[in-house]
Amino acid sequence: MGRAPGSRAFPERTERLSTSWSPETMGKLLALTLLGIGLALVGERLLAFSKRSNMSREVKPVVPGNCYHVEGVENGSEDIDILPSGLAFISSGLKYPGMPSFAPDEPGKIFLMDLKEQSPRAQALKISDGFDKASFNPHGISTFINEDHTVDLYVVNHPHMDSTVEIFKFEEQQHTLVHLKTIKHELLERVNDIVVLGPEQFYATRDHYFTNFFLSLLEMLLDFRWTCVLYYSPQEVKVVAQGFSSANGITTSLDNKYVYVADVTAKNIHVMKRSDNWNLTQQKVIQLDTLVDNLAVDPATGDILAGCHPNGKKLLIYDPKDPPGSEVLRIQNVLSKKPKISTVYADNGSTLQGSSVASVYHRKLLIGTIFHKLLYCEL
Ligand SMILES: *[C@@H]1O[C@H](CO)[C@@H](O)[C@H](O)[C@H]1NC(C)=O
Ligand SMILES: *[C@@H]1O[C@H](CO)[C@@H](O)[C@H](O)[C@H]1NC(C)=O
Ligand SMILES: *[C@@H]1O[C@H](CO)[C@@H](O)[C@H](O)[C@H]1NC(C)=O
Ligand SMILES: *[C@@H]1O[C@H](CO)[C@@H](O)[C@H](O)[C@H]1NC(C)=O
Repeated sequence: MGRAPGSRAFPERTERLSTSWSPETMGKLLALTLLGIGLALVGERLLAFSKRSNMSREVKPVVPGNCYHVEGVENGSEDIDILPSGLAFISSGLKYPGMPSFAPDEPGKIFLMDLKEQSPRAQALKISDGFDKASFNPHGISTFINEDHTVDLYVVNHPHMDSTVEIFKFEEQQHTLVHLKTIKHELLERVNDIVVLGPEQFYATRDHYFTNFFLSLLEMLLDFRWTCVLYYSPQEVKVVAQGFSSANGITTSLDNKYVYVADVTAKNIHVMKRSDNWNLTQQKVIQLDTLVDNLAVDPATGDILAGCHPNGKKLLIYDPKDPPGSEVLRIQNVLSKKPKISTVYADNGSTLQGSSVASVYHRKLLIGTIFHKLLYCEL
């Protein structure tokens, strides 16, 4: 419907309003009321979000022993997986929407460290030809030891912000990852982390429902809780648990009966029991006061080690003069009524920014970060 330029429709309407309410006016009033209720709901959700993500928590420093920066790792060490032999795999160079990156134009890398050594050094693994290395954007990783004792590395990859799972064979002598396979599936969107259960068989977390950046931001702010844990095998792909605000780190207990899932924005860890058909049923939720990222299990004790972000706001709005801090928690007696939670490491960002993972091997601890350095501590 067109209207002549300059025509004054508004005064006429107000006049009508004061006399009799036409159906048209009633309709508009109803629409306005609904909009008002909608905005109030959004406001309430936003307030809940700012409380939930308690943007301003500061940490007191905790240092567990002698800690050093690992030379050569400066642009992220987002996830770490350590083999029983002491070989540690580290994913580096993640480019993730909304998160800082010091090397946005450099491809991601996988570093290797041998924690059996006296002073372990990190070295980037070579990646075999035939794989698009330029768009390599590694996120969560998980190792798997085959029956013939060879090791495969599974890597969540985001080439051009897509989501795939890459399987590599680790050639220790050649210091090389040989690319075996790319797994892509319509359910494997916005994948964050992965834990391998068998050959080409894994659980993966999806951290957002929407793939569009703005919709996914809205989803997080309004707390839709539409994210999930997926089960993948060549025969079957399915959702095995859902209702997370943003499912993030995932790992299994030492006996493989339980699965631990971090919900980063809800600041908690879900303890889930695995059933024979791979479905997960929730046993309990361990509530924390920090954004929980990746999880690892201490092979000696079964404790959970959680890489956490105490100040989410500083992570989202990065200021090098007031950087986000780091925090690592240890959760003992995970299955008991009252698990014991203690702080293994905490820093205000002056040493380590944005810790996303911590993993132990004997008395050695590695603490990784989304986009910053890698810390090695002798406990
Ligand atoms: C954030 O946490 C601190 C300490 O943990 C608390 O004092 C403060 O009230 C919390 N703020 C909000 C908005 O919940
Ligand atoms: C980290 O990224 C910066 C910027 O691209 C680059 O200059 C530096 O060499 C990188 N550091 C390492 C250890 O790769
Ligand atoms: C397990 O998951 C499947 C979907 O894959 C569902 O149909 C089934 O009801 C679930 N079983 C249980 C016990 O939750
Ligand atoms: C951060 O902690 C270091 C020591 O751990 C301290 O020297 C520094 O002043 C702190 N910075 C802020 C902004 O509190």
